[in-house]
Amino acid sequence: MDPNPADEPTIAVRGNGSLQGTVTVPGAKNSVLKLMAATLLSDGTFELTNVPDIADVTIMGDLLEAIGVVIERPSSGHLLLTDTGDLTPVAPYELVERIRASINVLGPLLTRCGHVRLSMPGGDDFGARPIDMHVAGLEAMGATFKFSHGYLEAFADRLHGADITFDFPSVGATENLLTAAVLADGRTTIDNAAREPEIADLCEFLIAMGARISGVGTSTLVVDGVERGSLRPVRHDTVPDRIQAATYLAAVAVAGGELLVDGVLPEHMTMLLERFTDMGLDISTTRSDRQLRVIAPDRLRSIDVATLPYPGIATDYKPLIITMLSVADGVGIVTENLYPGRFRYVEELQRLGADVRTSGHHAVVRGVSRLSGAPVRAHDIRAGAAMVVAGLAAEGETQISGVHHIDRGYDDLVGRLAAVGAHIERR
Ligand code: EPU
Repeated sequence: MDPNPADEPTIAVRGNGSLQGTVTVPGAKNSVLKLMAATLLSDGTFELTNVPDIADVTIMGDLLEAIGVVIERPSSGHLLLTDTGDLTPVAPYELVERIRASINVLGPLLTRCGHVRLSMPGGDDFGARPIDMHVAGLEAMGATFKFSHGYLEAFADRLHGADITFDFPSVGATENLLTAAVLADGRTTIDNAAREPEIADLCEFLIAMGARISGVGTSTLVVDGVERGSLRPVRHDTVPDRIQAATYLAAVAVAGGELLVDGVLPEHMTMLLERFTDMGLDISTTRSDRQLRVIAPDRLRSIDVATLPYPGIATDYKPLIITMLSVADGVGIVTENLYPGRFRYVEELQRLGADVRTSGHHAVVRGVSRLSGAPVRAHDIRAGAAMVVAGLAAEGETQISGVHHIDRGYDDLVGRLAAVGAHIERR
């Protein structure tokens, strides 16, 4: 679904010079949504801090409210979630189809309530995103599934531990099995588990609640189930958003200038920072372990990049990297290994004068000296952010529609860029 109502705002950007100043990065969308879902594992009031002010948090909040959780936002960046234990384990289509992370209620609801009815999840428009690994893993733990009329129903009086080896380290499947296993009977081992920092954040959250998990941050997670009712609510600070951080690095890379990016964990971005350094960015840490200083070169250099599961280069960085390459010196080849269909924004970059050709899961990008502003459309969250970055590299005005995609995952992208000197506004 890609609504474009006449009254939807657009973002207008002008590539008018360099950026200077400090940008503070909020907490990660792809962590906070999973932490919110995991509150379904215990009664009581949970407190989340460093919560980004994004539409997906509101949508996940609406979904949890429909299930029976009370949500309060006492102040910016701060969320209270009260689980009274009176849960209706049903996730309706109207909410689920808006957000991929809705699948994350499956594990907690099934293990807590013994039954769940969930509309098949939606998400971004970049190809099929099946859930077969979630289902096979839960079946190995004793769940049975029924699929009909766009809904899946899962049943299990009590899940039991199992040895599960993934063919591919799926982020969502790792999270669902982890959250199911914490209340299962016995030991669950997840091999070839995803290792994204947001999964380690979820593990820390679950451990603080009383879950027994070892191997955090590695590809083998071992979970010893505890009794239902023995987990407790906690207060937790959401891990910083490495993709939003990368967006500000990409912005200064194409606009020029110098930025201090605050509130990041550089160790979560090691490989990306190496590649950005290869492209000519001067990146250093400061005395704080949560800051990066970035100085743009006169012109970026082209490199070849392939996306891979963490600790490789994340697929979510790729639209930013292709945008950077489109104004770099030379030719770069980008290979997508996660979502073959994730190149739709390339047509939009071409409208701005970028020289990008795609073939299968490869893109060949020949850098041009400057892009040329034009109306373009955001087709998903990260593609939308890349359009904003492209606008900073373009002569004249770039107007971006489909802004609701950007709002799903970016906390005041326009305000943050304007504060460091970008000519950008929401209309
Ligand atoms: N896959 C299957 N079967 C499954 C699960 C996954 O074939 O049961 C395939 C997918 O189709 C895809 C690959 O495995 O080709 C990776 O999927 P994964 O499960 O790892 O991704 P996800 O959990 O659906 C999360 C992020 C995405 C991010 C990917 C990869 C959230 C809500 N989403 O998706 O983030 O691109 O991991 O890192 O955490 C975004 O934030 O804009 C975004 C799309």
